[in-house]
Amino acid sequence: MAKKPETPLPPYFNLDPEAAAAKLGPIVDTARFAKAAAFAGRGREDLSKRGYAPDGRKRLRKFSTWEICRYLIPVAPAHLRRVLNKNPDLPQGEGNAGSRWFTLEDVLKLRDHFAEEGVSTKEYRPYRPKGLPAKIVAVANFKGGVGKTSTAAHLAMSAALDGYKVLVVDLDSQGSMTSIMGGDVPDEWKTVFPLLAKDYAMNVLAENKVRAAAGEPELPLDETLKEALSTNLDDVVQKTHWPNIDLIGAQLNLYWAEFQIPVWRMGLRSWALWDALTGALEQGGALDEYDIILLDTPPALGYLTINALAAADIILVPLGASFLEFDSTGRFFDMLYSTFASIEDGENAARRRAGLPEMKFEWDVVRAVITRFDASQQTDLANVIQAYFGDVMNAYRQEYTAMVGQAGESVSGIYEADYRNFNRETYTRGREVFDRTYAEFKELLIGSWWRDSQLDDGEANEEESTHGAPETA
Ligand SMILES: Nc1ncnc2c1ncn2[C@@H]1O[C@H](COP(=O)(O)OP(=O)(O)O)[C@@H](O)[C@H]1O
Ligand SMILES: [Mg+2]
Repeated sequence: MAKKPETPLPPYFNLDPEAAAAKLGPIVDTARFAKAAAFAGRGREDLSKRGYAPDGRKRLRKFSTWEICRYLIPVAPAHLRRVLNKNPDLPQGEGNAGSRWFTLEDVLKLRDHFAEEGVSTKEYRPYRPKGLPAKIVAVANFKGGVGKTSTAAHLAMSAALDGYKVLVVDLDSQGSMTSIMGGDVPDEWKTVFPLLAKDYAMNVLAENKVRAAAGEPELPLDETLKEALSTNLDDVVQKTHWPNIDLIGAQLNLYWAEFQIPVWRMGLRSWALWDALTGALEQGGALDEYDIILLDTPPALGYLTINALAAADIILVPLGASFLEFDSTGRFFDMLYSTFASIEDGENAARRRAGLPEMKFEWDVVRAVITRFDASQQTDLANVIQAYFGDVMNAYRQEYTAMVGQAGESVSGIYEADYRNFNRETYTRGREVFDRTYAEFKELLIGSWWRDSQLDDGEANEEESTHGAPETA
């Protein structure tokens, strides 16, 4: 009788320790990291030569009449053609009459034309109340790989297509957002680092005035801080291949800020380290210059993330619909609570001593956003997560789409991909994922602005009525 073939043992039995040791290689010291880095550096160069890496000169694709009328400007193709014929000064696009292709600059000009001349009941330009500052949006979660950068990048691009002017700030020293935006960041002086340093240096200067008056020794300013004092927002902001998206990039050296910020704070306890980024954006005029400032954060609740969250009006917390990501996001909220509550407590104790009014952190809205959602596998879990998070969670679940990351190195995400490279239905569905993510975000954005505008009007009216009130003796 033939012997039954034995089921092989699983691969983790009968391993030989000596053979395993032989495979280990020598004990690792820190120099080994340098060697690995050097090899990776060479590999990177090799891959670049073979066309894998972005060349740093990204160019945005063009937009067809179909796409403009379908997604960007609410006009019918026939009407658009008529308007172009009647106005030879408007951008006419490239290609034949049937399918013309326009740059995004062209699209922005066409949109301006319709906004000025078109039917006044149509929304050609997105809502932004006059006189109110830009909204700052932080995308954060201390877990990595949850979709922070993808969400932030797609929001920046959809908002830009919608006609908003966007500043993207990369606070992650890994610089993924910077690569997506084609940024060029030679060192930390092209990141937010000098802006944070400047905020600290200005606080030192103010403190030194007080000290000088009291005859006390002044705090020193090192070379870095002196140089930072002459750095402005414009020095670190760069243009991107999107005409209405600017960037403050990141690279590895930005990580140094995590060590430097607490050291500065030790030197000057009164420095509000969480407010440095807010101060820099305000002082540099970014709140007037842009409509939306999007902050992409590192996967940690460090000082850069704290600055982003303190600066933000709107906080988005992406997470996947899995137990681990839900659990970790719950802890993230817990850390947010303890971090900001302890800043408030410390600050208010000092303020009470100084007879100053107390401070409180406030946000327009905070929302968890489900990302990479697979409706066939994750609906139950997502429903449970939704039940627990309640109104702190967005309604739309950003679906998993193979179009993210698939489009190739020089193209990042749905909005940069040319729909002709995809089956029309794949494209339409992929695009809808991020269009709907944007739509729900836009509601948060314009709702917050509108609420501000009502408050503003309310205050203006109050002032008026006080001033206008008849004086009584
Ligand atoms: N909606 C989505 N569909 C498919 N893949 C996604 C989606 N959102 C993000 N990803 C992928 O998930 C991975 C992590 O996303 P990323 O935005 O880099 O996360 P984080 O910034 O939180 O580390 C990336 O490979 C990205 O391409
Ligand atoms: Mg990221």
